[in-house]
Amino acid sequence: MSAPFITFEGIDGSGKSTQARMLAESLRAAGRDVVLTREPGGSPGAEEIRTLLLTGDPGRWSAETEILLFTAARRDHLEKTIRPALAAGQTVICDRFADSTRIYQGTTRGDLRATVDSLHALMIGREPDLTFVIDMDPEVALARGLARRSGEDRFEEFGLDFQHGLRAGFLALAASAPARCQVIDGNRPAEVVAADVLARVHAWP
Ligand code: ADP
Ligand code: TYD
Repeated sequence: MSAPFITFEGIDGSGKSTQARMLAESLRAAGRDVVLTREPGGSPGAEEIRTLLLTGDPGRWSAETEILLFTAARRDHLEKTIRPALAAGQTVICDRFADSTRIYQGTTRGDLRATVDSLHALMIGREPDLTFVIDMDPEVALARGLARRSGEDRFEEFGLDFQHGLRAGFLALAASAPARCQVIDGNRPAEVVAADVLARVHAWP
């Protein structure tokens, strides 16, 4: 079996970064070679695009422009980080990937899902082997997320209704791709969620 490409998805503040880090630590402790990465970003060029996307006025970019920028960042990340790591037999754990574009840009400001899917097919053409969708109450997640005040709050500033829409979008997406998506209850202590995730990675495939 080749090393898997694993992603974490979900609304802002759902615990993706925490879980990605905890999974990487557990797998490394068990002797696996792991690359922990994130989107937007994960390569020097994509990190520069990240700054364009996540800082500034919430209305700075149209949904269409965002699709192009996120896809450009993802292409660079795939070329420079993800593909080389997988080819070298490393497990790749990524905090967000194409599902985030499908939901954030594809559904929240009009129905642009077909545009997202076309560009994905043209420029990315790769799905994760395993995707954990961390599901949680948007009120709790938003409070957690904004408490961090990272300066990268452009999407979080769209508000609570927006997060409810995202949650529904992620759950529908997980239901439509059951072979790779597993929904994880994020309303539990981080260690409990991490043990659940680890057990599922061990059970895969
Ligand atoms: P995301 O990457 O999804 O935005 P983070 O992992 O950064 O989420 O978590 C957001 C905040 O919530 C952080 O301050 C983190 O320490 C905290 N947190 C993460 N997981 C849990 C959990 N299961 N229970 C309580 N707090 C959590
Ligand atoms: P992230 O740093 O994961 O934020 P958080 O830790 O708050 O979940 O992602 C930054 C923001 O970028 C987040 O609000 C989701 C958004 N995003 C998209 O809109 N489309 C995408 O394709 C990706 C990868 C992220």
